[in-house]
Amino acid sequence: MADIRRIGILTSGGDCPGLNAAIRGVAKPLQEKGVQIIGIQDGFRGLVENRTMELGARETSGLLVEGGTILGTSRYKPQKYPNSQGGGKSDRTRDAVANYERLHLDALVCIGGGGTHKNAYHLYQNGIPNIVTLPKTIDNDVFGTDVTFGYDTGMSIACEAIDRLHTTASSHHRCMLVDVMGHNTGWLAMGAGIAGGADVILIPEFPFSIDKVVEALIERERKNKRFSIVVVAEGAHSMEEAALRKDMERKELKARDAAYSDGLSHDLARIIEERVGIETRITTLGHLQRGGTPTARDRVLASRLGTVAADLIMEGHFGVMAAVRCNEFVAVPLEEMVGKKKYISEDNGLVETANRLGVSLGRAF
Ligand code: F6P
Repeated sequence: MADIRRIGILTSGGDCPGLNAAIRGVAKPLQEKGVQIIGIQDGFRGLVENRTMELGARETSGLLVEGGTILGTSRYKPQKYPNSQGGGKSDRTRDAVANYERLHLDALVCIGGGGTHKNAYHLYQNGIPNIVTLPKTIDNDVFGTDVTFGYDTGMSIACEAIDRLHTTASSHHRCMLVDVMGHNTGWLAMGAGIAGGADVILIPEFPFSIDKVVEALIERERKNKRFSIVVVAEGAHSMEEAALRKDMERKELKARDAAYSDGLSHDLARIIEERVGIETRITTLGHLQRGGTPTARDRVLASRLGTVAADLIMEGHFGVMAAVRCNEFVAVPLEEMVGKKKYISEDNGLVETANRLGVSLGRAF
């Protein structure tokens, strides 16, 4: 057993349902052991700026069902911290470490996605060795864990939206394009698309052929199915676009990403109207997918990961992410997962299911 009296906890990156359940999951078992919990506000920003709040029994009760995060969040990185004046960024790692020490913390819990894990690993290597992380994000793209909390809720919200679009699509004999989030991976689109009975699902992992999308929609018309649902993941792109992007630098790609995904559904809708001859509408779900109360599954997952993190801390097992692999809760060393992303691979069961159900992924084979 490690000698743990006081720990810090922060939530960083885009918020998602289940963050408060995870905070509670970490805090409750530790409070039982007399450990004091310090909430660090607005992610790593609060660590650099020394903004905290005490998380006693009162603050951590009633949290389970609440969406968002009571601690606040941000995408700030200690190692590339925006300057308050004059623009640009500075390395504020030393401030983060100094505040950790000033607060007399014995461990730090960082809850977040890929970016958060990078920042946590940076601190782990540069002055805060007692770090444990938890994987959250609606995108489900954190490497090293089978699932992240937030995903089930995001997927359920998107699925409900698709269900609702079905009825209006059917009444008007229209094609509905549904833009879902997911950053550069297709987990949300694939999950919600299959659950909602989409006819076409376009994801970043498999660049699509517009001819194949058009073909799939014409085939539905031919079968007298007079409406269609096309789910478009935020990072999806055509084969032509994929070829163009091949040799681009990261910075150039980022700029292109935003412009391309903004226009994608509009371009697709125009092409579908022209070539399939079906009236087409676009729905962008956006941040709705991240808002509100977590599903029961996410509450359970976040609570369990939280309690696993509490155990890891008491055991003095640091530099690890609490994760789920094959239904087991495990500790994954940060060095094994940082800088990697979990993509949908060809052999993923979701791909097979989509294929077997006749859902087009817009692929040219
Ligand atoms: O990581 C979660 C996520 O919602 C992604 O799906 C999306 O790309 C991104 O965050 C949006 O970020 P922001 O809320 O900063 O616009």
